[in-house]
Amino acid sequence: MRVSPSLLAADFANLSKEVEMINSSNADYLHMDVMDGVFVPNISFGFPVLNAVGKICEKPLDVHLMIVEPDRWISQVRDCGARIMNVHVEACRHLHSTVSLIHQAGMKAGVTLNPSTPVSMLVDIIEDVELVLLMSVNPGFGGQPFIRHTLKKVEELRSLIAATGSKALIEVDGGVNEKTGRELAAAGTDILVAGSYVFGSEDPHSRIDILRNL
Ligand code: DX5
Ligand code: ZN
Repeated sequence: MRVSPSLLAADFANLSKEVEMINSSNADYLHMDVMDGVFVPNISFGFPVLNAVGKICEKPLDVHLMIVEPDRWISQVRDCGARIMNVHVEACRHLHSTVSLIHQAGMKAGVTLNPSTPVSMLVDIIEDVELVLLMSVNPGFGGQPFIRHTLKKVEELRSLIAATGSKALIEVDGGVNEKTGRELAAAGTDILVAGSYVFGSEDPHSRIDILRNL
C-alpha cells in the first residue's frame, strides 16, 4: 500500500517541522488540499503555502484541488513542484481537455469523484488518467467518518480498470484509519490518504507504517 498523508491535519503553526516529519517518514507522497470556499464550504490554503512546502518537501506532492475552474491554475500547480494534480469531475466542464492540459504541463492527471458521483462517470476518461481519487467523505473537512459505500466503488472501479486496460491507480481520501484502510486494501485500493489518523497521532511515523503494511 502507498500512503499520502494529508497536510490539512498538520499543525500550520509548525509547518516546516511537519514537513520534516514527512521527509523522514516512509510516506510515498504528501497530499495537499486546496479549497476555494465555492466548490466546497471551506477554505484551506493556496499557492503561497504550496510553493513554500514544495521547496522543502522531499516527497512528491499529490495536490487535490477542491476548486471551480481548475484549468486556470494548472501552470501554478506545476510550478510548485506537484507530481500529481487531482481535479474533481464535478468541477470540470470539459474534463478531457483539462486532463490533456495537465499532461501537457508535465504532471500526472488524477480525477476525483465525490461520494455521490458514480464510477460510471469515468468510463470515457479512465484510459487517459494515471489516478482516480475516490472521496470517502464529502470534501471540505478533515476528521469525518468514512462513508462505507466507498468500498463498493473501489471494487467497481477495479473492474472498470481491468476491463479497459487502464493503468490508473486507485486512491481513497477521507476517514482512513487502520480499520477502514484494511477494508480498502482488500477492496483493491492502491493509495490511502490519511489526515487526522497520521497528524493527530503522537507517533505519526508508526501510523504511516501501519497503513503502508496493510
Ligand atoms: C477532505 C480532504 C482530505 C482530508 C482527509 O476534503 O480532501 O484530504 O484531509 O482528512 P481525514 O483523513 O482526517 O478524513
Ligand atoms: Zn484530499
